[in-house]
Amino acid sequence: MNIHLTKSQIGLDGVAAAETVLSHVDGERGELIIAGEHVGRLAGQSSFEGVTARLWNGASKTTLSEANVRGSLGAARERAFARLPDLLPATRGMGVIDGFRAAVAGLRAEHGLEHEATIVGAFPVIAGALVRRAKGLDPVAPDPNASHAADTLRMLRGAAPETREVAALDAYFVTVCDHGMNASTFATRVVASTQADLFAAVTAGYCALTGPLHGGAPEPVLEMLDAIGTRERIKPWVDAALARGERLMGFGHRVYRVRDPRADVLKAAIERLSADGADLPFAGEVEAYIRSALRKKNPERPLETNVEFFTAILLDALAIPRQAFTPIFAVARSAGWTAHAREQQRTGRLIRPSSSYVGAMPEG
Ligand code: ACO
Repeated sequence: MNIHLTKSQIGLDGVAAAETVLSHVDGERGELIIAGEHVGRLAGQSSFEGVTARLWNGASKTTLSEANVRGSLGAARERAFARLPDLLPATRGMGVIDGFRAAVAGLRAEHGLEHEATIVGAFPVIAGALVRRAKGLDPVAPDPNASHAADTLRMLRGAAPETREVAALDAYFVTVCDHGMNASTFATRVVASTQADLFAAVTAGYCALTGPLHGGAPEPVLEMLDAIGTRERIKPWVDAALARGERLMGFGHRVYRVRDPRADVLKAAIERLSADGADLPFAGEVEAYIRSALRKKNPERPLETNVEFFTAILLDALAIPRQAFTPIFAVARSAGWTAHAREQQRTGRLIRPSSSYVGAMPEG
């Protein structure tokens, strides 16, 4: 009794809790494979619909094509839009991040229709409606023939996006659609392991995503860049933050011991997006200084740039409001969550670890 666990044990570091065909993270080599392909190649070759087909086919042994998924997501966006009057009242008085949680919790099965598409299709509709409501605007109806990335931007803005903007958001969606047993995917799989439905499972996934140690980091990344403000302030600001023991958002990772491969994929997408590369030089200088400061602070434990640093810059360059960053991350990650939930349900095995009791024992 009273066996205390190490920090690594409490964080389940390195514990494999599932067999998956969906994605593989190699933290030593800095590699991410999604549905059999390196993330760097996938982001150039496949659309979000294409990679979603690969994930769903892997989890459910189906043979969906990119076109099948594009069609089912378009139809699902239309159904979700029709259901907004039922979904939005639960979000009254809430901001985008919390309102998204409440609306997602209100999604439910539609008889005879694919739950995966119902969920993934609804996410950008809800995000768009909440972002526009925050500006006092009405929601924009989806275009079922548009790609998921194009329609996401259209429903946020109320105007057709440029081709290069759609390409950038699509590359982002592909890059972050799945990532091994991250915290939100684990939460999703735990709920799915009870044989609860996909709607309950992805609601848990979204809740886990909202924390700053996971998908809630990009907004603080921009706040950090704003607070630093100028080149001259990079060194004093970063040194002071580290001296106060603060964590710098967009750096460090539980699994990667080298640079997160998604950071480079997103950096390349930002370079293609911004013709004059406007946002990158300053952010690049901040990144370089933080990397060197973190190396100096802890030479034993390499802390490198993670996906969230460039996520913040990419989504900001697309004029997506900061409070929508986590819901937009969820739009992409819902492809992975739904696939993982199915894969977990198929095992029929309940995830039920144990704990080490360190409390008082009854006397006598
Ligand atoms: N800035 C400063 N110090 C850090 C950072 C950071 N970003 N990350 C870790 N450290 C420190 C820790 O405080 C710890 O110090 P200690 O030993 O004195 O307590 C040491 O480095 C080692 O930390 P790890 O155990 O390697 O970190 P852990 O695996 O627990 O955390 C995490 C990983 C949560 C991502 C962490 O690096 C962090 O908080 N980063 C900032 C938030 C962030 O960018 N989140 C997005 C992650 S990517 C994603 O989820 C999509």
